[in-house]
Formats: sequence, structure tokens, C-alpha cells
Amino acid sequence: MDNKPNVVMVGLGYIGLPTAALIAKNKTYVHGVDINPEIVKTINAGKIHIIEPELDNAVENAVKDGFLYASTVPVEADSYLIVVPTPFKGKNEPDISFVESATKAIIPLLKENDLYIIESTSPIGTTELMMNLIYSERPELKNKLNIAYCPERVLPGNVMYELVHNDRVIGGINDESTEKAVDFYRQFIKGDLHKTNARTAEMCKLVENSSRDVQIAFANELSLICDKADINVWELIKLANKHPRVNILQPGCGVGGHCIAVDPYFIVADYPMESKIIGTAREINNYKSFWCAEKVKNAKLEFELQHGRKPRIALLGLAFKPNIDDLRESPAKYIVQKVLQNANDEEYYIVEPNINEHKVFKLTSYEEAIDKADIIVFLVAHDEFKNYKAIKEKIVLDFCGALNK
Ligand SMILES: NC(=O)c1ccc[n+]([C@@H]2O[C@H](COP(=O)([O-])OP(=O)(O)OC[C@H]3O[C@@H](n4cnc5c(N)ncnc54)[C@H](O)[C@@H]3O)[C@@H](O)[C@H]2O)c1
Repeated sequence: MDNKPNVVMVGLGYIGLPTAALIAKNKTYVHGVDINPEIVKTINAGKIHIIEPELDNAVENAVKDGFLYASTVPVEADSYLIVVPTPFKGKNEPDISFVESATKAIIPLLKENDLYIIESTSPIGTTELMMNLIYSERPELKNKLNIAYCPERVLPGNVMYELVHNDRVIGGINDESTEKAVDFYRQFIKGDLHKTNARTAEMCKLVENSSRDVQIAFANELSLICDKADINVWELIKLANKHPRVNILQPGCGVGGHCIAVDPYFIVADYPMESKIIGTAREINNYKSFWCAEKVKNAKLEFELQHGRKPRIALLGLAFKPNIDDLRESPAKYIVQKVLQNANDEEYYIVEPNINEHKVFKLTSYEEAIDKADIIVFLVAHDEFKNYKAIKEKIVLDFCGALNK
């Protein structure tokens, strides 16, 4: 690209690419960096490698207009955004090695007054750690850079809208860094920009997802109690929520996705003694999936005892939440795996209307599964499943409230 980029975006995935396209749309030059050469090639051809509404047009136009260019190596710019993955390593320990290597790649390019922002979901103290890493390699820049953390909280499927309209929390390692980062985001974002320090901004992202996890764990715990007490948990929650200050969430077959099921561990790993509720919520939500698999096993054995033959079983849903095709960390997928591990000549029909095929599971249509199965297990409350009409002789296990909402 002839034009000097103003922004280097390191990591061109679900978050980095839409953000790069948004910045480019505002006629700011973006040099996108990804270690995956296929991704780089795809983007430079004006195409995208992920599914996200409206992103294809945004990337095509940004590349065509010369405001977005991708590469496997960074170049000199004024602002650097780190949007690389922060997965687990070992036993639920956050792995910040991607953030570290992305940072190392841009350290030689930094100059006075540059802005360095981490957007990757990160354990508390990561921004300070990266600041120390930068200044240890470039001591002449000490206190002359603007360093901040700004987490992302968009909903996949609505990213292009939410990127612009959601409020953002922005925390610098000092006030000047916070101000510089706010000025940067103000150019592209219409939502309110809330100023804080880096540690609070890091914690804020983790707390948002932990809060959801804890609240879902409460609902899941109620579902276990109600099952024993012979109470319909969905009816119970509906009634309890008639109280003007009570708002219980819905139980399900666990908690999945790459955020809510992951981020709480970033707190628990560093503060195990203090994060009792957060850690227990993770355990309850994981246990709920195991419990569902056990329930299917018991239903299967009971059927065999009663009917003297193996049952046919429909397992409905694989995604981690209703009406999406995302199977990452999905409790429904875990339950299906667990049930199939215990398979003993029963016939199974696995249904996921939001994907065409799966590399491990043979998929069946919803209609065929419902028609043939003796035991029908609702794992995800997809819209397609809600029109189920009860048939007397079929056993139904509704773990997600598909029939009760
Ligand atoms: N996807 C979401 O909905 C979402 C929402 C909020 C926060 N986040 C957080 O944002 C961060 C990024 O998530 P994502 O969903 O965009 O991940 P992703 O896996 O879709 O994309 C990350 C990209 O970074 C690239 N990459 C890895 N190491 C690199 C390096 N050293 N240099 C350059 N590129 C590198 C990968 O090849 C990949 O294309 C994560 O910390 C995630 O937790 C994601």
C-alpha cells in the first residue's frame, strides 16, 4: 500500500477484522496483520474467512478503496491494536503467549507518542505486563507511549452494528493513555466511552461474562433441585420473576461459547481463594451437562426394562445457544458425545438445523428424528423445535425449556 497506515491491527479474526473494516470505512488507513497467510490472501482479495452479516461488503469496500491491506508482518503506524486469541493452557489457565508474541512483533516499530491498545480478553495485569515488556526492550521510550486496554463486548451475528453503538470501557496505564485511547475510539464509535484504568477495564470484561455465568448457574442449580422436588422449573422461574425485583435467568444443558464458559477461569486462575462463587458457578454449569447425559442414560435403561428392546433416541441441538451455528464449547455437543460414548446398539438421530453437516456426527432432519425416536431429548431451544406436539408414547427430556417457554 502506498499510503502510510495510521493503524496496525494485529489479529484479523471475528473481532479484529470487523474492527479493521470499521476503522477503514472512516477513511483511516489500516494495515491488518495475521500469522495465517491464507487469511491475509483472502482479505487482500476483498473477501472474508468468517461468517458475519455485512462484514463482506465492509471488507470488500475497504480493500477496494485502499484503506485496508493485510499482511503477515506489521509496519510502522501511529496506533497498534492487539486482537489475538487468549485461549487456555493446562488446567484452565489463561494463555497470553499470543498477546506477547503479537506485542513483540510491533515493539521494534514503536516511536514516541504511539498508541498501543490490547482488545483481547486478558487476565488482570496483562496490560501492565506488556508495558513492562515494551519498556524493557525499548527503554528510551519509557513513559513516552500511550498504553491502554479496551475490551470488546459485541454479539456475533450483530457485530457491525454493535461495534459502533455499544458503550466501551477504556483503561490506560495512566490518565494520558486513557485520554489518547478515548480520542482514538471516538472517531469510530457512537456508544459512550467510559474511562478507567487498565486493570479495571481488564476485570470489567471478565466480570461481565462471569456475572452471566453465575446467574445461569443459579438457574441450573434450581433445575437440579426442582427435578428432585418434582417441580416444573420453568413455571417456577416464571412465577418467581413476577416479583418486581427478581429476574432469574433460564436453565439449560450447561453453558457454552468461547466467552461465558471461558472468561471466568481467568479470574479463578489468579484469585482461587477469593473467587468461590465464580469457580462454583463454573462447576455447576459443567456439572449440569454431565447430569443431562446421565439422565439420557437412565431414560434409555428404563425404556429397555419396560419395553424389552433398545430405544431410538433423538438428540436435538448441537450449538451452544439457540438459533446459531456456533458449536464452540457447546454443552449440547458434549452431551451428545457423552451419550454416544455409552451407546449400546441403540439408534441415535442427531439434529442441528443450523448446520448442513458435521465431521463427526451424522445429522438427521428434525422431522425424521421426531418421527422415529422413542426418546426425544431437547438440548437447545432452537425455534424449529418449539412446534413439537406431544405424542403420548414418546418420552421427552427437555433440558433447555424448548417446550416450556
Ligand atoms: N469473538 C467474539 O465474539 C469476542 C467477543 C469479545 C472478545 N473477544 C476476544 O477477542 C480476542 C480475539 O478473538 P477472536 O474471536 O477475534 O479470535 P479469532 O481466533 O477469530 O481471531 C484471532 C486471529 O489472530 C490471529 N493471530 C494469532 N496470533 C497472532 C499473532 N501473533 N500475530 C498476528 N495474528 C495472530 C489468528 O490467526 C486469528 O486469525 C480474544 O481474546 C477473544 O476472547 C472475542
